[in-house]
Amino acid sequence: MSLLDRLQALNDKAVSGLENCEAPAELESLYHEILGKKGELTEILKGIKDLSPEEKKHAGSRANEIRSDLEKRFKDAQSDLKTRAMEKALEEESFDVLRPVSYHAGGLHPISEVQYQVEEIFSSMGFRIMDGPEVETDESNFGSLNFSDDHPARDMQDTIWVEGGNLLRTHTSTVQVRSMKMLEPPFRIVAPGRVFRFEQTDASHETTFHQVEGMMVDKEVSVSHLIYVMKTFLRRYFEKDVEVRLRPGYFPFVEPGFELDFSCLVCDGKGCSVCKHSGWVEIMPCGLVHPNVLSAGGIDPSKWQGFAFGLGLSRLVMMRHKIEDIRHLLSGNMRFFKAFHGQAH
Ligand code: PHE
Repeated sequence: MSLLDRLQALNDKAVSGLENCEAPAELESLYHEILGKKGELTEILKGIKDLSPEEKKHAGSRANEIRSDLEKRFKDAQSDLKTRAMEKALEEESFDVLRPVSYHAGGLHPISEVQYQVEEIFSSMGFRIMDGPEVETDESNFGSLNFSDDHPARDMQDTIWVEGGNLLRTHTSTVQVRSMKMLEPPFRIVAPGRVFRFEQTDASHETTFHQVEGMMVDKEVSVSHLIYVMKTFLRRYFEKDVEVRLRPGYFPFVEPGFELDFSCLVCDGKGCSVCKHSGWVEIMPCGLVHPNVLSAGGIDPSKWQGFAFGLGLSRLVMMRHKIEDIRHLLSGNMRFFKAFHGQAH
């Protein structure tokens, strides 16, 4: 084989060898084999001295051409391998930003969850959602609701007073007053919110709890409307017909006034701490709006009537999740909420 042919064969061998290189070490040994000091090119060029001056020139320039071309190819192959190694590392070491890092994702507080559901049920019956402040005037909490200044029923509501003669609202009935002043009858409203009482706590009493006030003002509103709305609500909330009973109840702002009870779902009526071992739970004090209250709200009681109720939101939560002690609800105890969340979601 002539020297030129041997150069060409070496070139071809190097090119195909480069194509099969998988690792930097392989590349390096191929380089030494072909272009190294003691490599094949050096070996071939030893034969140059036997050529004629004309052939020497030709073979010399061809050898340089091949060397510089191969040098370039080796460099490219080297950077190619580096890129590939980098890509591989990135793929192996990368992390999925969408992968959940915690299985304890946040969730709604059980009270909020129930509140939203109650709002939804009443909204579907044409009630609008109202709101009011937690620090209230004596007038909104009592005066406008037909409690005279020395009314004994003021003592029923163990009030927490704040500076300036104001108070923490003892019930959401304050929003009845605000709604009558804001809205033109006929209207239907519900107002969920926190209320406060200065009292001894036990499994069914807390100083802070939640109610949902309800009020409907229209022409010819009667007790049967009230019962219908209550029963519809309870059926939708508990997704079954629950037993209810109506007892007379006294509140200065309703006449007649009732206590609506329903059979305890924690113990199925057998008796437990939630129902005070009676099998019945008070869930809704209610009644027809007292004419004095309509007047205080700027509504003519000879033209309009209404019903009102105060739904125990905390009780609804306890019934739904069979929680026996109301004090868990606002305890902030994460062990309680985690156990509870497994159940709720
Ligand atoms: N506001 C009363 C309470 O919390 C409940 C109630 C509301 C009674 C509406 C009748 C009508 O004690």
